[in-house]
Amino acid sequence: MLFQRVLITGANGLLGQHLVRLMGRHPEYDLLATGRDETPRFSGGSCGYMPLDVSDSEEVSRIFVDFAPDVVINCAAMTQVDECESKREACWQVNALAVETLAKCCLARGTRLVQVSTDFVFDGQSGPYKESARPSPLSYYGRSKLAGENYARGAGMDKWSIVRTVLVYGVAENLQRNNFVWWLRDHLEAGKSVNIVTDQWRTPTYAADLATGIEKMVRFSKQGVYHISGREFFSIYEFALEIAKTLDLDSSLILPADASSFSQAAVRPSRSGFIILKAESELGYSPHTVRDSILEMVKEEERSRFSS
Ligand SMILES: NC(=O)c1ccc[n+]([C@@H]2O[C@H](COP(=O)([O-])OP(=O)(O)OC[C@H]3O[C@@H](n4cnc5c(N)ncnc54)[C@H](OP(=O)(O)O)[C@@H]3O)[C@@H](O)[C@H]2O)c1
Repeated sequence: MLFQRVLITGANGLLGQHLVRLMGRHPEYDLLATGRDETPRFSGGSCGYMPLDVSDSEEVSRIFVDFAPDVVINCAAMTQVDECESKREACWQVNALAVETLAKCCLARGTRLVQVSTDFVFDGQSGPYKESARPSPLSYYGRSKLAGENYARGAGMDKWSIVRTVLVYGVAENLQRNNFVWWLRDHLEAGKSVNIVTDQWRTPTYAADLATGIEKMVRFSKQGVYHISGREFFSIYEFALEIAKTLDLDSSLILPADASSFSQAAVRPSRSGFIILKAESELGYSPHTVRDSILEMVKEEERSRFSS
């Protein structure tokens, strides 16, 4: 059995927790989960945990010496798109410069780097996008993530890959941010109306599917850029209606709104979303429908309520 030492950064986040859960079940991976907190925010998981701030280059170098990873999956990022506009330096440190540090350490050790990126590197004029489409970010978040991609691909490594994804939702423990599905459910259950944007399109991604796609990239030692998301192309309004329908909630509380009616610091792409043929054909990636993933989320929530 080929045994790989895998370092996961940002492991307390939504994607990080899913990767820990999934890869921790495979005995061929020796996992080290890292995050900013002193202790993990998730329970269980058959892996070690250490605090790691990826923007601290000394800490990063030390962990490369101590753990000697064969693969790094970089899930650490400043993901609050509007906050990235006001906290530009902090955003650049994590989303761009930390990737440069990781890439240099990977180059020095021959480690594979899997850098997680976003559809916000595109301007949303002509989505859904293929991997070969030309990036043109609209927001500071998008610019910082594109710089991160460029550090990963430009460091001189053979073993790099970039996984771009779109509007990720799923269940994880003690997240800093509420996810869209539960946020919507809570509002509709409380009888509160919500304004949801009709002129932004995405291919929403179930976090468990994304983790499965990334694990396959590691398993098959894939190089280059991969688009990994759901297959269904929805406006965010249609996505909200699908959630309400699946959870049998009152969809009349979901009110259509133009993007121009929201006052948000960061400009979002309008027609984003991905064509995922490459991941489907090369990785055998096969995402759940939105309906099936939401039903899975409900089951998962029930299981964790039952076990706690
Ligand atoms: N969520 C989406 O809709 C979406 C869409 C497209 C692409 N992506 C990309 O997917 C990746 C994973 O995001 P996610 O959805 O899992 O978001 P998330 O839940 O916000 O996770 C990001 C994690 O990074 C951690 N982090 C931030 N700064 C750090 C630092 N200096 N050192 C170490 N860790 C740090 C955060 O820690 P704290 O919890 O302590 O803040 C958080 O746990 C990111 O690259 C993101 O850009 C996400």
